[in-house]
Amino acid sequence: MKIVHAASELYPYVKTGGLADAIGSLAATLADKGHDVSVFVPGYRAALKHKEVAGAEQRLGLRVEMGDRLYAGDVRVLPVKKGLTVYFIGREEFFDRRFPYGNGERDYEDNDARFVFFCKAVVEVMRIAEIRADVVHGHDWQAALLPLLLRYEERRSGIALAMKTVFTIHNIAFQGVFPMRSFALTNLPDELLGIDGFEYYGQINLMKGGILFADRVMTVSPQYAREIQTPEFGCGLEGVVGTRAEDLVGLVNGIDTRVWNPARDRLLPARYAVHDLTGKSVCRAALLKKHGMDEAYKGPIFGMVCRLTEQKGLDFLLAARDFFVQQDCRLIVLGTGEKRYESALRELAQAQPKKIALSVKHDEEMSHLIEAGADFFLMPSHFEPCGLNQMYSQAYGTVPVVTRVGGFVDTVTDIDEQPADGTGILCQPAAADFITALQRAIQLYGDRDRLIEVIKRGMTRDFSWQKATAAYEQLYQDTI
Ligand code: ADP
Ligand code: GLC
Repeated sequence: MKIVHAASELYPYVKTGGLADAIGSLAATLADKGHDVSVFVPGYRAALKHKEVAGAEQRLGLRVEMGDRLYAGDVRVLPVKKGLTVYFIGREEFFDRRFPYGNGERDYEDNDARFVFFCKAVVEVMRIAEIRADVVHGHDWQAALLPLLLRYEERRSGIALAMKTVFTIHNIAFQGVFPMRSFALTNLPDELLGIDGFEYYGQINLMKGGILFADRVMTVSPQYAREIQTPEFGCGLEGVVGTRAEDLVGLVNGIDTRVWNPARDRLLPARYAVHDLTGKSVCRAALLKKHGMDEAYKGPIFGMVCRLTEQKGLDFLLAARDFFVQQDCRLIVLGTGEKRYESALRELAQAQPKKIALSVKHDEEMSHLIEAGADFFLMPSHFEPCGLNQMYSQAYGTVPVVTRVGGFVDTVTDIDEQPADGTGILCQPAAADFITALQRAIQLYGDRDRLIEVIKRGMTRDFSWQKATAAYEQLYQDTI
């Protein structure tokens, strides 16, 4: 199949979260399976500085109409490997900035123009480079205009660009909501501005357009597909999602086993596998040492790596502060994000430097060391479309402690509910339940034989993209 993906992040060129990992691995695995895959991403400053991209020789110039102006764009074409080409849609005015979406706490004010430009440029490159796709797959609000723009361009030019379109919701909390007047940038007809179109409480909502106008709609786990049809998780779009219930599927992400495999992980001080966990102890000692803690410590270590945002349940973590202070344990957190969480966690770490540590930075190597060196990995999210770290944790023999939401429900089995299959600890998304879950973790830690069984079950689970991609191939075939 000829498959086009469009997304705002792509590992290893630009990443703020799991979206980058998911698109990077999905595209590469589809290419390995013999498909012809093109991926479009914005040419952010960080991406263009990446050495492969900086060396890319092929360039394409284009012009995009937005409203009554023409905007020039510069596209770098990177042939990554057989079957996989990445197109970086460049325009300095929009993408030569320090961050992809905004300056720390606030989104950039021209995000409407930036991502309308991105979607229009994808269509234009497909037209001039004669990419005739079987499936065009857009991800999240930044690519949500694509299904519709493609159909209008086909109508205008008489050229068939895409047989079918798929739209994935990676996170319905971010919808791309802008003032009505931004719609003029799309050059789409005003009739699409109504309640059956992009209109959303007097504004426009780009994600709504993606949900309404793609041939198929996807989420990144079956549980999240159910949840977003309810007011509790739908973030106001539950009704819109409900209208597409028949065309909605949830497919769990995989993990990139070339990057996340404890037996081959070059970012770790030692490697290990299910039959010999010696290397895990070496990682444990290194993790403690790096955080100025006693290397010989033998009690349970809790690790956490995430964006410091409301989604990730940092309020539950902070509500459990007495637990971490009173229990014999260690807590190591890595993350960047909102200042309020950062300062609360910093205060806690400063009060308990021998027990609790916080690193505020993006650090791939440290994230691998935490996955490998910790005993338990904490993800008390309020909602979680899929989540990747709970799968990395299982692969690394680190027991995930997660809330009973979204992808966690589909990827972690509770040790008390299903003792023969359990790989982790699940709890309700509530502070008191989370503390009970932490206590269950301490209990498990005290039962060495049971702990080893749980670890081994997690490590032998198959979360690979090889497996996950088969479901995508099936979905594309069905859609076509
Ligand atoms: P989300 O996309 O909602 O942030 P996911 O669990 O899908 O959540 O993916 C998060 C990804 O980002 C994981 O690969 C995680 O290890 C990584 N990550 C998050 N924060 C950091 C950080 N500070 N340093 C390194 N990696 C991080
Ligand atoms: C989003 C979600 C996360 C998911 C990722 C990749 O960032 O928050 O749960 O794993 O997308 O699909």
